[in-house]
Amino acid sequence: MADLKIAIIPGDGIGVEVTAAAWEISLAAAAACGVKLSATTFPWSCDHYIETGSMMPADGIETLRRYDAILLGAIGWPAKVSDDVSLHGLLLRIRKEFDLYANVRPHKLLPGVQGPLRAGNIDVLCIRENTEGEYSGAGGRVHRGTAEEVAVETSVFTRNGVERILRYGFETARKRRKLLASVTKSNAQRHSMVFWDDVTRELSTEYPDVEVRSYHVDAIAARMIMFPETLDVIVASNLFGDILSDIGAAIQGGLGFAASANIDPTGRSPSMFEPVHGSAPDIADKDAANPIAATWSAAMMFEHLGQTELATTIFEAIGRACSRGIGVGSPDSRYGTRHITSEILFEIAR
Ligand code: IPM
Ligand code: MN
Repeated sequence: MADLKIAIIPGDGIGVEVTAAAWEISLAAAAACGVKLSATTFPWSCDHYIETGSMMPADGIETLRRYDAILLGAIGWPAKVSDDVSLHGLLLRIRKEFDLYANVRPHKLLPGVQGPLRAGNIDVLCIRENTEGEYSGAGGRVHRGTAEEVAVETSVFTRNGVERILRYGFETARKRRKLLASVTKSNAQRHSMVFWDDVTRELSTEYPDVEVRSYHVDAIAARMIMFPETLDVIVASNLFGDILSDIGAAIQGGLGFAASANIDPTGRSPSMFEPVHGSAPDIADKDAANPIAATWSAAMMFEHLGQTELATTIFEAIGRACSRGIGVGSPDSRYGTRHITSEILFEIAR
């Protein structure tokens, strides 16, 4: 029997509620599929920062390395700790230190879920570069507080970094509808983005079965809303992918439905799975958060760990629960975290 060891970092705000729900559902599905799961929960969060002066202990990365995968809720509570400190101290640090270079975000409209668009069939997969680009961290700020103040934030695009994420995009498209949209802004940014377009063109000769199109980020943002059914796999840089995946979340019914996987495709480090949404302090502890994004992320984790039956069991239970009409987990809906969780549990037990 497979025995999977998962590190859970609930984090802040609704991260705590949604990871608890996702794990409860995971355990029920695992029991049904004969998979053994064990979890260690790490209380690394903004409260932990206030108590200890850091988001995670000095050996936190080494500790996480001993697990098969990481399930994360959400990080950030700006009234307690400034976001740039909390995010760089934990989430962005894990992505970088484990070289989780592929951030995979499915934007699929589930049956029964009412999205904001007329389009009935939305099934877009956003692949976001996750270790460099606009999030490289290269830069600085001088002459603080004076009229001469300067802030520089340099994007870094390396051949290794660009090639591996594009390759991941081509490989993923090959397993789906064989349509790849490569996103840049090469009409304005003529170094990094023209480079990205060049590498896209170079690699395309290795994937003649995949139809690749290059889009400017502004144009594809509009296309995701006007004609989402024309898109299959989207591959984009770190910041562009971040923004486009919020559009993706919106068109699939809201951030409460948007799951994500931070993957190290080499398998050297544990991959990390988290909902796209943040910690939402305003609705924390109100039983208002939709647990579907976190639960779907857990399903992606089991898929990544080779537990296809377990992943499918969870994903199909979410789908059946939604098609019965629960898929409206917005804060103002009457369906709260507990209600949606019990509906999914009911579908697993069936
Ligand atoms: C996301 C989030 C993060 C990001 C923030 C919280 C740093 O928006 O995962 O999409 O920009 O990557
Ligand atoms: Mn984001």
